[in-house]
Amino acid sequence: MRALRVLTGITTSGTPHLGNYVGAIRPAVAASRAPGVESFYFLADYHALIKIDEPARIQRSTLEIAASWIACGLEPERVTFYRQSDVPEIPELTWLLTCVCGKGLLNRAHAYKAAVDKNTLSQVDPDSDVTAGLFMYPVLMAADILMFNAHRVPVGRDQIQHIEMARDMAASFNHRYGEHFVLPEAQIEEAVATLPGLDGRKMSKSYDNTIPLFAPREQLKKLIAGIKTDSRAPGEPKDTEGSPLFQIYQAFATPAETVQLRQAFAEGIAWSEAKQILFERIDHEVTPLRESYEALMRHPERLEDLLRAGATKARAIATPFTARLRHAVGLRDLRSQAAEQKEKSSKAALPSFKQYRESDGRFYFKLVDAQGKLLLQSPGYASPKEAGQVVKALQQDDGALASLPPPTDSQALQQALLQLRAALKPD
Ligand code: TRP
Repeated sequence: MRALRVLTGITTSGTPHLGNYVGAIRPAVAASRAPGVESFYFLADYHALIKIDEPARIQRSTLEIAASWIACGLEPERVTFYRQSDVPEIPELTWLLTCVCGKGLLNRAHAYKAAVDKNTLSQVDPDSDVTAGLFMYPVLMAADILMFNAHRVPVGRDQIQHIEMARDMAASFNHRYGEHFVLPEAQIEEAVATLPGLDGRKMSKSYDNTIPLFAPREQLKKLIAGIKTDSRAPGEPKDTEGSPLFQIYQAFATPAETVQLRQAFAEGIAWSEAKQILFERIDHEVTPLRESYEALMRHPERLEDLLRAGATKARAIATPFTARLRHAVGLRDLRSQAAEQKEKSSKAALPSFKQYRESDGRFYFKLVDAQGKLLLQSPGYASPKEAGQVVKALQQDDGALASLPPPTDSQALQQALLQLRAALKPD
C-alpha cells in the first residue's frame, strides 16, 4: 500500500500570527512526524496573486512564511516543502482541469458568490472588480492537490467547499480519461481551537486583531497587554468563559497550567497579572523558535536553496505524472499514432457498463460485451450515485454480484469483468 499522502498550501499573503501557529503550523509540523505519512507543504504564491498586487509584499510574505515553518520545526528532508510557482506542471494541470470543470460549479464557489452578492447589493455590475483569477481559484487549488494525488488535505472549515470541488474535477477527469486521480478528502482538526484575537473575534488579518508569531519580545508584551478584558478590578472573580486571554492561554498551556489559571481567575487575579502570565507562557514557547526564525531571515539564500531543493523533489513526481496526463488527454507524440490506433481497437473490444434512467424514474445499469450482447442487467436504484457505486464495486471485485439478479451466462459475465478490471488497472 502506498503511504497516506497529506498536502496543504499556505497562501503567501501575510505575516504568520499566533492564530496561524496554533491552528495550522504547530499541528502540521506534529503531523508531519507521524510514521507512514508522506507530507507535502507548499507556499501558494500563485494564489497570493489573486489577492495582492504588490510584488514586494508577495516576496516578503513568501520569505516570512518559509522561515516560520522551518523555524517551527518542519524538517525539509522528511517532507516535501516547496513553492507552488516553482512547479510549472501545476498551472499546466490547472488548464487540463479547467476543461473538465463545469462553469456552474465555479459560479457556486463561496468566495466568488460573496463578491457577486456584494456587487449586486451595491447595484453595480455583478462581476465588477472580480478577476478571472478569483473565479478560477478553485481550479488552481484542485491542481495543487490532484498533482500529488493527496488523500487528505488539512484545511480550515472555509476551505471545505474547495476540496469538494477538487473531488468533483478529479471524478470528471477520471470519468473521461481513466483513473488518474485520487479523490481527496478535507481533514478538519476538530481538536485545534480557533484562537481569538486581541478584540475577542477570531484572530485574523482581515480583522486587524492579530499578534504576529515572531513579534519581538517587547512588542509581544505590548500586544498582549492590549487584549480585550472586562472592567473587573483586582480581587473580583473573573469569567474564563468568553475571555480571549484565557482561551489564548489554553492554546499554549498544559492542562495542569490551565487548571491553575482557572483557579486564579476564580480568586480574582488582576488582569495585568494574568497578562503577564500569558506573556511568559507564550514567550517561553516562542523564544527558541524566534531565534531560528531571525537567523533564517538574515539568510534568505538558505531558504531559497531549500525551496528549490523542495521543488526538485516535487517535480520528480509532477513531471512524469504530467506526461501521463498529457498522454491521457491526447497531447501526444505524433510518431506514436500507430500504437494509439492499436490501443483504440483493443479498447473497442472491451465490454462496457452503460448507465441510464428509465421512465419509472429509477436508475439502472447494464453490462454489455463488445458486440453489444447483454451480460448483466441491474435492478432500479433510487439515485445515479447508488447505481454508480455498484458499478464501481463490480469493477473492483465480485462482492457486489450478490445484490444483483443472476446473469443468463455467468461464465461470459465473469470473463467480461476480469477483462474490464485488467484494462482499468493503472500501469
Ligand atoms: N486556499 C487555501 C487557503 O486559503 C490555500 C491553498 C491553496 C491550499 N492551495 C491549496 C490549501 C491546496 C490546501 C490545498 O487556506
